[in-house]
Amino acid sequence: MPVTVVVGAQWGDEGKAKVIDLLSKEHAYVVRYQGGHNAGHTVVVDGEKYALQLIPSGILYDHVIPVIANGVVVDLPTLFNEIDTLASRGIDTSQLKVSSLAHLIFPWHQAHDAIAEAMRGDDKIGTTLKGIGPAYADKARRVGIRAGDVLNAERFSSLVRERALAENVLIEQAGGDPLDVDDVVARFEAFGERLAPYVADTVSLLHDALAAGSHLLLEGAQATFLDLDHGTYPYVTSSNPTAGGACAGTGLGPRDIDRVVGITKAYTTRVGAGPFPTELFDGDGETLVDVGKEYGTVTGRRRRAGWLDLVMLRQAVRLNSLTELALTKLDILDGFETVKICTAYRLDGEVLRNYPDRSDIVARVEPIYEVLDGWGSALREMRDADQLPDLAKRFVEIVEREVGIPVRIVGVGAERDDYLLWSTSAAR
Ligand code: GDP
Ligand code: IMO
Ligand code: MG
Repeated sequence: MPVTVVVGAQWGDEGKAKVIDLLSKEHAYVVRYQGGHNAGHTVVVDGEKYALQLIPSGILYDHVIPVIANGVVVDLPTLFNEIDTLASRGIDTSQLKVSSLAHLIFPWHQAHDAIAEAMRGDDKIGTTLKGIGPAYADKARRVGIRAGDVLNAERFSSLVRERALAENVLIEQAGGDPLDVDDVVARFEAFGERLAPYVADTVSLLHDALAAGSHLLLEGAQATFLDLDHGTYPYVTSSNPTAGGACAGTGLGPRDIDRVVGITKAYTTRVGAGPFPTELFDGDGETLVDVGKEYGTVTGRRRRAGWLDLVMLRQAVRLNSLTELALTKLDILDGFETVKICTAYRLDGEVLRNYPDRSDIVARVEPIYEVLDGWGSALREMRDADQLPDLAKRFVEIVEREVGIPVRIVGVGAERDDYLLWSTSAAR
């Protein structure tokens, strides 16, 4: 399978990084295609935790060439901080390539993010305040500055100054504190110089790699229901995490993609505002957050939690052409006496199996649950599907039956090796 896309099937933090780390063994390139440092991707190796925001999650393997492709918005302070932190832990990032077409994030984007959230009052989106939305907005209104612009240092410097002066007018109009333009220009001149050696024509790089027989792994950040078009608008991010975004975000074509792996937790979480049909407000919800350690990697915010929602997963299969699922964090359900899976919604007495097209309807639906007995034993040490208790097998089988695609990987713990391959099971 030369080109594989990994995409979050829920509202983020599904465990994409752990699955990407696992799949990286078979891939020469790992490529981020959208989002920015709003992502928080965690890989745990021998008790050591690596939290990544911009650098692709395949970085922990020496053979992997990490690529930040054109669809990503790049925050340079975060990028260099990440490079330095990884270097201090013995991880080499010298092979990193950053697309010349990727847009850069500047301090005015963060200022606008904060102003926009404050102006929304009680109707905040709950963004990560990283400037992601404003950076994509500038890309769309064609005033963005791109990584390739740093290759002409003089021009880059004047572009930054020009934009900073223009953005200060808007910031002040909105009641915000203006930026120190000279300071921003000086800092970004230095960042630009440091970025220059990493800048590459990643479109050609990836196509040439493909032609030479290399395998590429395209890493989605965020998730299907945070997608700007298909998510719970306006409570979404400002890019297209869905698999189609992998084409626009890398310059590969739809026919280049062979395999699309959807990542879902065995339950659901969400950070920030927006509708969430299976959200729990009781002790079960508390348990999911506590046992699942559901606090954001980037902002430290407590995640909202609820049962697994298969109406959403069926929609994720459609939106992304998912070929298979990785079901993570099944171990977090170990202690429950009963577990629930939402198989359909009810709206005004009517049963819905398909995901509604409007957020205000998603906010009104009631979940219809299939209720299962819990399995009452710890899955963490299990490495073979045969070892799973029957009730845990049943859980996975319900997912496959309702969603219509196979589960291939089941996560049973946070460590790199805490997973089992479901499809090879003799039990099935
Ligand atoms: P991502 O944003 O999709 O890459 O996910 P995050 O890294 O933000 O959040 C997933 C969290 O769950 C991380 O802390 C992972 O170490 C952890 N994790 C991933 N898979 C499993 C699993 O199967 N079981 C458990 N217990 N933890 C997992
Ligand atoms: P990973 O890649 C979970 C959410 C924010 C907010 C909304 C918009 O780790 O799964 P933004 O800053 O992007 O404008 O915020 O999207 N959000 C995430 N939630 N995981 C993420 O990334 C997220 N990235 C953004 O909480 O609700
Ligand atoms: Mg995350």
